[in-house]
Amino acid sequence: MVIGPRITVHPGVLSGELTVPGDKSVGHRALILGALVGHPVHVTNVPRSADVAATARALRTLGAEITLDEAGTGLDGQVTGPLREASDVLGCGNSGTALRLLSGVVAGIDGMAVLSGDDSLRRRPVDRVAVPLRAMGAEVLARSDRFPPLVVRGGGLVGTSYDSPVASAQVKSCVLIAGLAAEGTTVVRSPAPSRDHTERMLAHLGVAVSTSVTDVEEVSVAAGPLRAAPLVVPGDLSSAAFWWVGAAIAGTSVTVSEVGVNPRRVGVLRALEEMGATVSVRARREVSGESTADVTVTGRALARAEIRGQATVDAIDELPVLALAGAMSEDGLEVRDAAELRVKESDRIDALAAAFRNLGLDLQARPDGFRVPGGQRPRGGIVDAAGDHRIAMTAAIAGTVATDPVTVVGADVIATSYPTFLEDLRALGGRVQVQETGR
Ligand code: S3P
Repeated sequence: MVIGPRITVHPGVLSGELTVPGDKSVGHRALILGALVGHPVHVTNVPRSADVAATARALRTLGAEITLDEAGTGLDGQVTGPLREASDVLGCGNSGTALRLLSGVVAGIDGMAVLSGDDSLRRRPVDRVAVPLRAMGAEVLARSDRFPPLVVRGGGLVGTSYDSPVASAQVKSCVLIAGLAAEGTTVVRSPAPSRDHTERMLAHLGVAVSTSVTDVEEVSVAAGPLRAAPLVVPGDLSSAAFWWVGAAIAGTSVTVSEVGVNPRRVGVLRALEEMGATVSVRARREVSGESTADVTVTGRALARAEIRGQATVDAIDELPVLALAGAMSEDGLEVRDAAELRVKESDRIDALAAAFRNLGLDLQARPDGFRVPGGQRPRGGIVDAAGDHRIAMTAAIAGTVATDPVTVVGADVIATSYPTFLEDLRALGGRVQVQETGR
């Protein structure tokens, strides 16, 4: 079902069991690291999301052969390098992960590359990757020295020891990927541990990568060949989060099977548990260095929660939908240390405040987070997705528990990460109407 630009979600309780499409973060990495192997690599459950499709397109422009066929909830196929100088501009669409990880790839290739994307992506900072890549010997230019388009002249890299000012997996991964093509060892230090999908997949592909965590996280990688091994993408916890919060606020149960439960991603589950929901994790398995499980969230009366520090990093993409749980809890939710939300697909703090306002919900924005008073219930209304898939899906979930229908304008952006969102909403008992045209 195509997600039209305008959807209307009617009140209706969500419950049941489902699998969600493959993880977007892991999907990008499977294609990118697979293309660096130099031998064919088999990939399974790659998500159909527009973001990951942008990475596939860019890798083809860099000379990779990628064949992907429909299979279950995702795509299965093969990725074959090697990569060479790009034959055209690398269009990264809406995807910050594509642009930042690919900038690390092209820094390691002799030749030049131009990376750009849509209006939202061209407003997001890239100095965070330009600085370390220059330290490794790449020439890097950016608009206003801060924003895409990004121009990289790569090759001849030397390992560096880089102190990142932000706990960003995109920055860390960019530097580690460039490090694969650099002479000597490359070290990235970050103020806190962030998602480690790149490190896990590199280890699975036979690369010597090591991590130590003291008051900072330090990851080092040595240049060297990658070994071919199959890459399986687990279900996307960030997509599952919408259904878990839907259950938590409705007092029902939703089970998501075979979903990724990387410890640096499960902040949403810890927060829901702290608020009083019951979380049950069963059938743990290992796939390509990542853990998956069947996870059930059962709603109860929700109490207050506070998310800060490491908990914020571990729930960074789920904070918008957690804000909804906070509004419907008894005493609200406080989120701190989340200034990064201001440089996501939208300024997610302001976009969330505007969306909540239109649903009659109070949310007090702060420079580094927000406070949502409890005891609230969304009323119906019209929400602008603000070009941000997670704002659009948060508004849709609000519609399931609102007093009246919620219309999301610009809802087609949901395909960025979750093209089958509406099918899954219906499968769990949600009621939604789609308008194919008209913003
Ligand atoms: C991602 C890392 C996070 C996250 C983004 C995906 C990744 O961003 O918000 O949606 O795949 O590495 P930062 O690394 O910039 O925090």
